[in-house]
Amino acid sequence: MANILLTGATGLLGRYLLKDLLQAGHQVAAVVRPSRRSDPEVRVEAAMRVWESQLGKSLPRPMVLGGDINSPDLGLDGRQIRWAAENCDTIIHNAASLSFVSTGRESEPWVSNVDGTRNVLEFCEQASIRNFFHVSTAYVAGKRTGIVRESELDEGQEFANPYEESKVEAEKMVRDAKFLDSLTVFRPAIIVGDSQTGMTFTYHNFYVVLQLCYTLARSMGKVDLTGKVSSPGVQVNVDGHECKNLVPVDWVSQVMSQIVSDPALHGETYHLAPRVPVSSRLIRDVIEEVVGVYGLGFSGADSTMGTDNEIEEVFFKHMEVYHSYWKDDPIFDASNTRAACPDLPCPHVDREMLLRLARVAIERSFNWRDPKVEARPELVPSLN
Ligand SMILES: NC(=O)c1ccc[n+]([C@@H]2O[C@H](COP(=O)([O-])OP(=O)(O)OC[C@H]3O[C@@H](n4cnc5c(N)ncnc54)[C@H](OP(=O)(O)O)[C@@H]3O)[C@@H](O)[C@H]2O)c1
Repeated sequence: MANILLTGATGLLGRYLLKDLLQAGHQVAAVVRPSRRSDPEVRVEAAMRVWESQLGKSLPRPMVLGGDINSPDLGLDGRQIRWAAENCDTIIHNAASLSFVSTGRESEPWVSNVDGTRNVLEFCEQASIRNFFHVSTAYVAGKRTGIVRESELDEGQEFANPYEESKVEAEKMVRDAKFLDSLTVFRPAIIVGDSQTGMTFTYHNFYVVLQLCYTLARSMGKVDLTGKVSSPGVQVNVDGHECKNLVPVDWVSQVMSQIVSDPALHGETYHLAPRVPVSSRLIRDVIEEVVGVYGLGFSGADSTMGTDNEIEEVFFKHMEVYHSYWKDDPIFDASNTRAACPDLPCPHVDREMLLRLARVAIERSFNWRDPKVEARPELVPSLN
């Protein structure tokens, strides 16, 4: 059976995909770069052990190809390239930089998202991997309002941050690749942790805002008679009724795996968006509750955040980066996804689930540590 080449297998979505694809009986080959402390094999083995301990059963291992999408040929050597050409016919290109800030085209998120995707495409052409699954984002819609369809991409929209723009460029590049036999595009909305356990491996978006509020509350110091920190004067520049589309990672991965496993569903674009978005007011209420603070106000979407207080000033500066995060989402029409997976409705992200997600993140100090794995030969199959 041919392998599925997977990029970004060590990230939040990638780890779920690895588990779900292997459990569905697929053979997977993961292109993984070393971390500061660990080799690619150790990283993948550690990720697999996390799943095995959670599921209480053993899982097959993927083939590990130590590489980096930012290098030509993905940094793979001749033997690895030959292996991929002989053993892979499908790729899920999921790796990306989720940085919302950039110092320019020579830095992230452009380097990984645009140049990295170009490297991935060139590699696939060379290795005759022509069944391509591309992980984009629903936020290629940028600042559009109203209904956004799965068939639409470049509608002349403006962007809230360089991440969105870089993902549009990457998606266009993939769509222009003539050598592909089949292209399927997944566009998830804002991915949060596991709908059941609240677990996450990386902390983007919702978690950044939560962590900022958590840090602010800690620096503001004393709790009052209510047992909470009072934050009068801290006004976030939103109205409170903005809609945000949050989707649990387990659901995103399940839907993707089901689509990857069924050739009849290939070749489409899928918005992975919830049926019911959450309001910025609910997010604020949940943050207040878990962080133990009250009085976070709304100053209105068009206002500027400002203060004389030094701690609040730092908070606002960081929040400004995520201002785009709070803006009202358009309506992501997800007709293709609903038709493809009618048996897999998105779990409703309600107050209870948001509380669980937020509490788990705080308990873990916004950090994830894999179990320690001793590096030794043949840890996982690899060609490194
Ligand atoms: N999170 C969201 O809310 C969200 C929403 C919509 C779409 N998406 C898309 O979903 C995909 C996965 O996102 P995620 O949330 O799982 O992000 P994540 O947790 O930050 O994981 C990103 C993954 O990409 C890998 N990667 C980045 N640059 C790489 C490089 N140069 N070479 C090799 N690997 C590289 C990372 O490897 P390291 O572990 O080595 O850093 C990691 O495995 C991305 O395409 C993202 O744009 C995410």
